[in-house]
Amino acid sequence: MQQELYQESKRYALQRLQEEADYIKSRGLSAVLHYRKEHTLTVVGLARTIADKTGADILICEVGAWFHDLGKCFNPRLSPEENLKRKKEHGLYGAEEAREFLTQKKADPDFIEEVYIAIKDHVGLTRKGREPMTPLSAAVIWDADKLSKIGWSAWLHFLAYTCNRKREEQSFLELLNRDGLETMEMIFQNLNTDIAKKMAEKRLESYRKNLLHMEGVLRGDI
Ligand SMILES: [Fe+2]
Ligand SMILES: [Fe+2]
Repeated sequence: MQQELYQESKRYALQRLQEEADYIKSRGLSAVLHYRKEHTLTVVGLARTIADKTGADILICEVGAWFHDLGKCFNPRLSPEENLKRKKEHGLYGAEEAREFLTQKKADPDFIEEVYIAIKDHVGLTRKGREPMTPLSAAVIWDADKLSKIGWSAWLHFLAYTCNRKREEQSFLELLNRDGLETMEMIFQNLNTDIAKKMAEKRLESYRKNLLHMEGVLRGDI
């Protein structure tokens, strides 16, 4: 039953992510890397790891991760205005979409409620207060989502994100520093769990070291 619910959630999310990819392509933007899909796959893996290490319910965290950004995915069955509204409050709409899907699948009401809270509360890079979020599954989804934005793979995801959008010209160094290191350090301050903090520290150490090298290469010193 649990395995079935996981597979069905995964199938549903991948189909919705494909709709977002089709929308991006229809606007003539880059389809080389599909940021939202790559990000979601990473968040699912991280949610599993962090849930396992913290004792959180793994299935709640995995299903929550699959659905967490679906509120940002273009839905061809809705009007442009409705899609815009969803994007502005993607936590809430993603949570609603998960609730509707899981109710149809006759999942346990407590399970549905916890997935709902975790998705609704995952939005933003910073949060109020230093106390870990509750319930634990919400802290895990937050940490999985934010940890996916720290480190070199995160920076490449970010580059794909900018290429999937209409953006003004920016220098390579600016992208590496301001949208890279500075943002990552800020995100790090807002993690909940010790395991995510440890993983983030390793990622930041590697990012800083390789950033120095990259800056030297870009200046022509190396
Ligand atoms: Fe999000
Ligand atoms: Fe996300």
